[in-house]
Amino acid sequence: MVKIGASILSANYGYLKDEVKKVEKAGVDFIHIDMMDGHFVPNLSMGIGISKYIKDITNLPTDVHLMVENPDLFIPILANDADMITFHIETCKFPFRTINLIKESGSKPIVALNPSTPIDTIEYILEDLYGVLVMTVEPGFAGQKFITPMLKKIDRLKNIILKEGYDTKIFVDGGVNSETAPKAVEAGADVLIAASAIYKKENIEEAVMSLKASAKFKK
Ligand code: DX5
Ligand code: ZN
Repeated sequence: MVKIGASILSANYGYLKDEVKKVEKAGVDFIHIDMMDGHFVPNLSMGIGISKYIKDITNLPTDVHLMVENPDLFIPILANDADMITFHIETCKFPFRTINLIKESGSKPIVALNPSTPIDTIEYILEDLYGVLVMTVEPGFAGQKFITPMLKKIDRLKNIILKEGYDTKIFVDGGVNSETAPKAVEAGADVLIAASAIYKKENIEEAVMSLKASAKFKK
């Protein structure tokens, strides 16, 4: 199985409840909420209130992707509102402390790596994580092109995880669509996150089905 997360960054914010219900009906596995602070990434997006709201209107798990300079500040505030919390290794001086904060808040910890960040930076925290999110675009915006060399990174990471016998799942975020999804899955992705390839399509059910079809390429 490959799991699909719908990123509401490309949803119509005026109809957020309907937009969440649509992807729920289309069979996505969780909702991905992109929080940006205008410092770590050159954009602003959703805040804490949105994650509370989403949690209230759906039974689907939520994944809060913190693209902020000080993730530790927000983790306790997010407690109860996020099933998974994704933080960037580039923002983090003490990742073991951040992972523990997330676990203590009752959420599953996921670390994100920007495209140019090497895998070595997370070697020693890998087994403590629920997942690693491989960014396949520079973070900050939806609708960008998948960075192809990231397939090598996914493949290398998968081999390390398999060799060590860890449970850690590989998430992929950025430029995921019906062409890039099978390639990411073939390289070792377990979970795909998409904004444009879901919300910018006429037929959301078909869009989700086409991403799910990439499961047949799973290693
Ligand atoms: C980018 C965000 C992604 C984004 C993906 O900074 O982290 O989650 O919403 O958008 P698409 O799928 O359009 O590349
Ligand atoms: Zn994201």
